[in-house]
Amino acid sequence: KVLILDFGSQYTQLIARRIRELNVYSEIVPFNKVPELDDTIKAVILSGSPFSVREERALHPNLEPLIGKRPVLGICYGAQYVAQHFGGRVERSETREYGKANLATIHKPEGLMTGIEAGSQVWMSHGDTIKEIPEQFELLASTADVEVAAYGSKPGAFSEPVFCIQFHPEVYHSLDGKALLKNFVIDVAGCTGNWTPAHFIDDTVAALQAKIGDDRVLLGLSGGVDSSVAAMLLHRAIGDRLFCFFIDNGLLRKDEFEQVLKSYDGMGLNVKGIDAKQEFYDALAEISDPELKRKAIGKTFIDVFDREAKKLTNIKYLAQGTIYPDVIESVSVHGPSVTIKSHHNVGGLPAKMGLKIVEPLRFLFKDEVRRVGTELGMADHLIKRHPFPGPGLAIRILGDITPEKVDLLQKADAIYINKLREYGLYDQVWQAGTILLPVQSVGVMGDERTYEQAVALRAVNSTDGMTAEWSHLPYDFLAAVSSSIINNVKGINRVVYDISTKPPATIEWE
Ligand code: XMP
Repeated sequence: KVLILDFGSQYTQLIARRIRELNVYSEIVPFNKVPELDDTIKAVILSGSPFSVREERALHPNLEPLIGKRPVLGICYGAQYVAQHFGGRVERSETREYGKANLATIHKPEGLMTGIEAGSQVWMSHGDTIKEIPEQFELLASTADVEVAAYGSKPGAFSEPVFCIQFHPEVYHSLDGKALLKNFVIDVAGCTGNWTPAHFIDDTVAALQAKIGDDRVLLGLSGGVDSSVAAMLLHRAIGDRLFCFFIDNGLLRKDEFEQVLKSYDGMGLNVKGIDAKQEFYDALAEISDPELKRKAIGKTFIDVFDREAKKLTNIKYLAQGTIYPDVIESVSVHGPSVTIKSHHNVGGLPAKMGLKIVEPLRFLFKDEVRRVGTELGMADHLIKRHPFPGPGLAIRILGDITPEKVDLLQKADAIYINKLREYGLYDQVWQAGTILLPVQSVGVMGDERTYEQAVALRAVNSTDGMTAEWSHLPYDFLAAVSSSIINNVKGINRVVYDISTKPPATIEWE
């Protein structure tokens, strides 16, 4: 595998993903928590950083255990740090070194630069620049403005080569970025591209069998991709010793409980559907505050889950569909972050139940989870499902929750989602949903005045939900949805479309 030392760059996760797209496993660690190099670690990458190497608070990795031991690639800050460390000179840049640039000259078209031609477009994003490279190094490539775009150790200077680049190969705008990373990871470091879904499944199933032995495992299914894929993997490993719950909290989409249960049944999973609608509605009665709603739902979920679990005997493990972005310990520039919304729906569960945790997807990015799902034979409609929040429709009904409001929203939402599918737009948006607004407005239907509720439609494009743009859905589509909702859902006489980006808005309204 390839070890990536994180210095807090916004692109660190992208580096890991690009390497994995080469079918090579990569792992991110904070720059100051580098594990002992063992045989599995074939190469090391130093990420970029929002800091400057010239600042007092700059991050100082210990390079001694790495340089000469494994091939090293420094990117941006990583490259500048290496330059400074070995006696080169790094200064604040005078010319613009942000955005697209072209490699004007390739000084050494081999090793890291094999197959990369002059003119190749790269993405620059740095405030410092390397003025002089240390004497053990030689220049590899330059742009018109940046002489030291890429440099590397002279042959024989160290037992293993060190390469440094000031541009960002992990960003799509660096058109040969992937080729360059491939040169480093496969050709220089000798990694084999065997990180494939099939390989992952074999390894994980074997590891799960070794870990779990003859014990029994419990898993809460949510209907989403992550928990479903986790369940399939465990099922393959331990068969019917996996017990799954799927709880109807009364806040799912229309008919979702039945449909999802049916598809789990088709996959051969041992699933118990639990109708706890009333219990959730009772817990939510008269609560309007978004965070209090989340807390009430989280607590009720734990109560229901715990009660049902007690009916089973000899359960030793609780399985969760946690994925890699949730476990990466990022180097934060801003210190501990503020809670905007508490997403940890069931955080307290394992401790309360006294169970050990098993997380088969802990090291996968979302797109990898999907590929593993496909390899396991999961139906496309399950794999391509939009994300759906744990608290469900409760955070899409502004104000307090009643079963009547849930019913109203379910009907409007079903029309919206079905139309997205009908128009072939479902797979083009990252997430879509309908929000029931706590306002009434005047309308006219036939000869009659109406005074009914309004819904907002939301659709966003995003890669990870951290930032999002509103989707530019066609007007004729929006018109069709609007008239279908207003004509068919009694109680709604107005439909609006949410055109806010995140930030400053969020995807959900609560
Ligand atoms: P926001 O609204 O924070 O949403 O922009 C980002 C993504 O997270 C989902 N979301 C949640 N997921 N529990 C969840 O499991 C929650 O409490 C929660 N709140 C928001 C949201 O649907 C979007 O995909």
